[in-house]
Amino acid sequence: MNQRFSTDILIIGGGAAGLSAALHLAPHARVTVLCKGEIGSASSHWAQGGIAAVTSEEDSLEAHVQDTLRAGAGLCDERAVGFTVENAPAAIRSLVEWGVTFDTENNHWHLTREGGHSFRRILHVADATGKAITETLMQRVLDHENIQFFNDRIAIDVINRSRLGRYSSRCAGAYVLNRSTGHVEVFQARFVILATGGASKVYLYTSNPDSSTGDGIAMAWRAGCRVANMEFNQFHPTCLYHPHAKSFLISEAVRGEGGVLKLKNGRRFMDRYHELGELAPRDIVARAIDHEMKRTGADCVYLDISHRPPEFIRAHFPTISARCMEFGIDITRDPIPVVPAAHYTCGGVVVDECGGTDVPGLYAIGEVSCTGLHGANRLASNSLLECLVYARSCADHIRGLLHLPEELVRIPHWDESKVVDSDEDVVIAHNWDELRRFMWDYVGIVRTSKRLERAQRRLDLLKQEINEYYRHYRVSNDLLELRNLITVAELIVRCATARRESRGLHYTLDYPELLQEAEDTILFPGSMEHLTVLRPDGSG
Ligand code: FAD
Ligand code: SIN
Repeated sequence: MNQRFSTDILIIGGGAAGLSAALHLAPHARVTVLCKGEIGSASSHWAQGGIAAVTSEEDSLEAHVQDTLRAGAGLCDERAVGFTVENAPAAIRSLVEWGVTFDTENNHWHLTREGGHSFRRILHVADATGKAITETLMQRVLDHENIQFFNDRIAIDVINRSRLGRYSSRCAGAYVLNRSTGHVEVFQARFVILATGGASKVYLYTSNPDSSTGDGIAMAWRAGCRVANMEFNQFHPTCLYHPHAKSFLISEAVRGEGGVLKLKNGRRFMDRYHELGELAPRDIVARAIDHEMKRTGADCVYLDISHRPPEFIRAHFPTISARCMEFGIDITRDPIPVVPAAHYTCGGVVVDECGGTDVPGLYAIGEVSCTGLHGANRLASNSLLECLVYARSCADHIRGLLHLPEELVRIPHWDESKVVDSDEDVVIAHNWDELRRFMWDYVGIVRTSKRLERAQRRLDLLKQEINEYYRHYRVSNDLLELRNLITVAELIVRCATARRESRGLHYTLDYPELLQEAEDTILFPGSMEHLTVLRPDGSG
């Protein structure tokens, strides 16, 4: 029999979204937080540049709204943008109350600048803002008597059960693989919040940690939620180019503080692409670099900040300086070799202002969700903000429902007796690599209809193979992640195929123009053949 746990609110994910939601809810209910790995398994931990919010008098909420709308290329939901921007100062206040200490200068917050922002408005903790936020929130979570924290757990699927005596169903918890014991556990809950982050690991090169495999998007999709705008995967223009650097990010704040992009011959090129040069929106900078690399046959371009004083560089970018130095690059003197890499999933699970999904009892917050804030391209440093603002509104909403009587549901156990351990793990490893490579080559920064068709044909084969595999073998972390990556890859390809224009992050040579009317790409459950949804008895 599976080990069983019961709680009021189950939060799947321990990044900025999950941890802050837990802290808002803990005074009112029993909260359980699950994480795949250590604190560093969350993208939140690696955030460098900072968090956007209007805090200075020269700046205005309207300017932040307009910058977000402009970056989003006509596809943002204006209500979501207004809601997020207006709630930003309160989100910063919560962080400060929890103990995050942002950098200051002359008794004011030091604000940095990033691409697409018309003012300096990014609060930061040097170039390690995410680390400061996650470590502070995690300590609070671990200290809170109403929060139970479980590490090394990967949620397999949320449990959607019909309510006793009623026709409709609701989310009642999740099946979870304990990665240490290899056994499946049942977490029963009245409310489930997906805070599982993005899906950039679907691409061969990514700035994200290994856990960004789109698990929450795939779980919500299997549970019957709509998913939208998956064609808009953001590629960060500047990740360190070095065989051992694993796409380490070089923050946009380096360009915000004067860093310039150059070719190998030392010539700048961004002024040929956009009037804002290096501070143009990210999609434009990433495409310009991609174009220059293809045009000149170069493996990378260079980001140069060496004209600024060494003390300034070391004070503002201590993490980046130290990491580059490990590879023999002294950024106070040398230009940094950089390439674009998959960075952020703008689309995701369709949610309302409280993170509510199409399934009663199931919520999604943070990068897993599609709130309408980012449209076709996310403005830099708006994502940590989105995590915090929606964590708060989701928590407030759930708090208002806690007085309702608990609905009874019966949750079947997950029978592990009919499956065996795999003796063919090479299939999993091979398919992981194959998937990520063809997604990079065919569904990357520049797309064509032919490349998308090729990708879809390969996905059909992978789906078949993984379905077979499922029927016979015990679930493992790699198998579960691969299954989710295949689902997410297909959602991206379907959305990209449906969009017959080039907008924001989606650029296709077959439809280079922008259509007059901007529309979301919404996928409805049932519109695409699923990968097998594992049944609790493990039979598939
Ligand atoms: P994450 O922080 O990714 O957390 C996801 C959590 O879910 C993890 O704990 C993971 O273990 C867990 N999880 C996933 N799947 C499962 C599962 N199946 N079962 C159990 N647990 C699961 N944004 C900004 O606004 N400003 C920045 O300066 C900035 N810099 C960035 C730098 C880097 C290198 C990266 C990668 C991203 C950056 N971003 C930045 C983007 C931002 O960090 C993320 O969008 C945001 O942190 C996402 O937070 P989240 O809580 O939604 O997810
Ligand atoms: C960066 O520091 O360049 C990342 C900022 C972001 O992704 O919002």
